[in-house]
Amino acid sequence: MIKRFTDNFEEHVMIRCAILPKYPEDYVRDILNKYKPKKILEIGTFNGIMTAFLASFPFVEKVITLDITDYKTGYNLWKKMRVFEKISFRLIKNNKEKAGIIKEEKYFDFVFIDGEHSYKGIKLDYELVKDKTKLILFHDYGSNPYMTPFIQELGNKITHKRIDLSFALMEKK
Ligand SMILES: C[S@@+](CC[C@H](N)C(=O)[O-])C[C@H]1O[C@@H](n2cnc3c(N)ncnc32)[C@H](O)[C@@H]1O
Repeated sequence: MIKRFTDNFEEHVMIRCAILPKYPEDYVRDILNKYKPKKILEIGTFNGIMTAFLASFPFVEKVITLDITDYKTGYNLWKKMRVFEKISFRLIKNNKEKAGIIKEEKYFDFVFIDGEHSYKGIKLDYELVKDKTKLILFHDYGSNPYMTPFIQELGNKITHKRIDLSFALMEKK
């Protein structure tokens, strides 16, 4: 019997999230276990793998995830991982719409910035969330030419960097 790609994809993701060490997820897992965020915002959903991973923690109650494209791969994965109910996917037309959605929310316990990878886009996402959370994880530090200088600009507001995993973390007191 021919297995559908999506079946393989979902199995792969579930195994990766649950078992395999030395993946970037390990870094995120440590942050989540330390802070136990209830409400998370992810900017940039893509195929929904990180969304599923974030929602899979028992203390996480809600993950709002935004993207300008609906890649549609997330839905089955989220259902299979039994996290669908925790996830609110918001397909946005533009940054104005994104700003509106973020403004509606009072706070987030954790924000993952991994959306538009231009300098302007990264800065905008940061500006939109900076007063709404004490914990921001930036992806693509060291691997994106715009993210790296932006992280440098943030100076000692950045509390931890893992250039090998492309992560930079901002933890506010
Ligand atoms: C690197 S992917 C996100 C990967 C995902 N966070 C993960 O870890 O699996 C970046 C995503 O950001 C989306 N994106 C691009 N511009 C955006 C914008 N202005 N606002 C939100 N998302 C955007 C892209 O469509 C793409 O799906």
